[in-house]
Amino acid sequence: MSDQRDLSPRPSTSILGRPVENRRSFFAITAAVVTGSIAVLTPIGVGIAAFLTPLFRKSKSPEVRIALLDQVPDDGMPRYFPVVADREDAWTRYPAQRVGAVYLIRNAGEEKPTAFTAKCPHAGCFIGYTPGAKVFQCPCHTSAFKLNGERLNGDAEVAPRGMDTLPVSIRQAKTGDGTEIAEVWVEFIDFQTGHKEKIPTA
Ligand code: FES
Repeated sequence: MSDQRDLSPRPSTSILGRPVENRRSFFAITAAVVTGSIAVLTPIGVGIAAFLTPLFRKSKSPEVRIALLDQVPDDGMPRYFPVVADREDAWTRYPAQRVGAVYLIRNAGEEKPTAFTAKCPHAGCFIGYTPGAKVFQCPCHTSAFKLNGERLNGDAEVAPRGMDTLPVSIRQAKTGDGTEIAEVWVEFIDFQTGHKEKIPTA
């Protein structure tokens, strides 16, 4: 009798008996899906990160040109100046906005004035100046401050601290006709209200 067994080549099989060809297809499809997902999701992730980054960017207090030094004579009298600066939130920049106000005071012989923000450290109202009494006064809850920014009645005032001073610098500049001028610049830091300590808001 002749041997009738089929000796033609068969597809190789795995241990579990499944064709190796199927397994190769599975890996190929999986690799294609993963590669495609990375190709699609990476630009989306980069876009989302770029969109959200401004939310976590620490904003810097603007340095603002407030006045000419000549506008602040060294007579110990406070002078009020609005503060105009570019303002920006996470995504938008608003040029030349009024962001607050300061008092500049220069005592006799001082080269550089002292700057106080006009924002009350109690709850943020604008502090006024009463020339007759020579005191700063807040209209909201009657806190009063001396010319050096200290609270007039110490802890008896509702304001938890004195008026906030701001860093000042004098910069030399030239006008169009070449005249030398001295400018007063202030780093306009916004401080939190209601605390004994000066804590910047940003
Ligand atoms: S906000 Fe100035 S005393 Fe309250």
